[in-house]
Amino acid sequence: MTSQTLLLGQTLRFNADPFATGSDAALHDSRGGILIEGGKIVAVGDGAALRAAHPQAQVTDHGAALLMAGFVDAHVHYPQTAIIASWGKRLIDWLNLYTFPEEMRFADPAYAAEIAGRYLDLTLAHGTTTVCSYATIHPASVDAFFQAAQTRGQRVVAGKTCMDRNAPDGLRDTAQSAYDDSRALLRKWHGVDRLSYAITPRFSPTSSPAQLDALGALWTEHPDCLMQTHLSEQTDEIAWVRDLYPQARDYLDTYETHGLLGPNGLYGHAIHLEPREKDRLREVDAAVVHCPTSNTFIGSGLFDMAGMIAAGQRVGLATDTGGGSSFSMLRTMAAAYEIGQLRGTPLHAAQLLWLATAGSARALRMQDRIGNLAAGMEADIVVLDLASTPAIAQRSARADDLWEAVFPTIMMGDDRAVRATYVAGQKMDRRMDQR
Ligand code: GUN
Ligand code: ZN
Repeated sequence: MTSQTLLLGQTLRFNADPFATGSDAALHDSRGGILIEGGKIVAVGDGAALRAAHPQAQVTDHGAALLMAGFVDAHVHYPQTAIIASWGKRLIDWLNLYTFPEEMRFADPAYAAEIAGRYLDLTLAHGTTTVCSYATIHPASVDAFFQAAQTRGQRVVAGKTCMDRNAPDGLRDTAQSAYDDSRALLRKWHGVDRLSYAITPRFSPTSSPAQLDALGALWTEHPDCLMQTHLSEQTDEIAWVRDLYPQARDYLDTYETHGLLGPNGLYGHAIHLEPREKDRLREVDAAVVHCPTSNTFIGSGLFDMAGMIAAGQRVGLATDTGGGSSFSMLRTMAAAYEIGQLRGTPLHAAQLLWLATAGSARALRMQDRIGNLAAGMEADIVVLDLASTPAIAQRSARADDLWEAVFPTIMMGDDRAVRATYVAGQKMDRRMDQR
């Protein structure tokens, strides 16, 4: 018989979407347990009852810590790890001054491997178990990332970033090479272990219409793949898109007319949308991804979470490292809360935690496998200390319910709040990020 593991602690899971049903969507057990076998969750329930029913299981008791699904980060750029928190620029200048020179370094596969490992160790230390990442234009940067995730047993999504114009020498492909390289990488990695390929045109300004066409054709050939790109992040960018694509009705139309709008599409930022764009995104059931620390850090704008959700849009939550200013999904939830406040629509802690797990998993169309605690789901779990610093501890000590106990960690927590991270039932070694 294969061995079973039983994790004990407070457990938090969702049986519904808290945007639809409020905080009742969450099930909290102050003395819960999660039984794991073969990398999957076998049962979630009362800790003592699970222990009595499975006396042979190896028990790890996390005491008062909170066990929930590992965080799912729906939009990141792992190659920007080393340039996070670069000062003073808005999107286009930020790309040209900081991002493109750094992405050029990924021509060296050894550098790509070093950063891929560093990035995944940092995010695991922050409780993030799944990410959906852009690589660089270099195919080896995709190999490096998938190899690093495969070593750690993680479920990740990634793709070669395609750019054939408005990028420096050494950081451009062509329409044909983008198609060929993306197809070869897709065939090599998509569906291997827990890895999935995403077709990845960076954004309309850095792709010719011919390149968008080629990637649209590739998506038609592989419609089960995700397709990720950027949409309407800054007003200057939107004006530039209008100049580059004079025939397009709007920014989204530059994707739609080239076969790059569909139900498996992921559109990062999506802040300054026209009514038609919102309607089309919803009609095709595409997902948009909210990147709150990036949107404040690069000065992009205030995403309309409440409006999007009310309209029935699927929304994921993401750090957007390194335009985002943090690797932490806790910090990202805090920024989403703050942006909600600035718009007069504060998010409940249950909604924030749902967005960072099940909501992002739904955006990635992986909600049946990750993003929640339930029998049959993959055992990706974060263990949160709800009193990880003196400031947080003194506030959570006053809490009258779970939401008051957890909200100080959302607002003030960081990797010190992450006591452990499990990937497919295996505890990840925190020392990996301290090399
Ligand atoms: N738009 C195009 N590329 C990028 C990027 O790398 N980061 C962000 N935040 N926006 C982009
Ligand atoms: Zn991005």
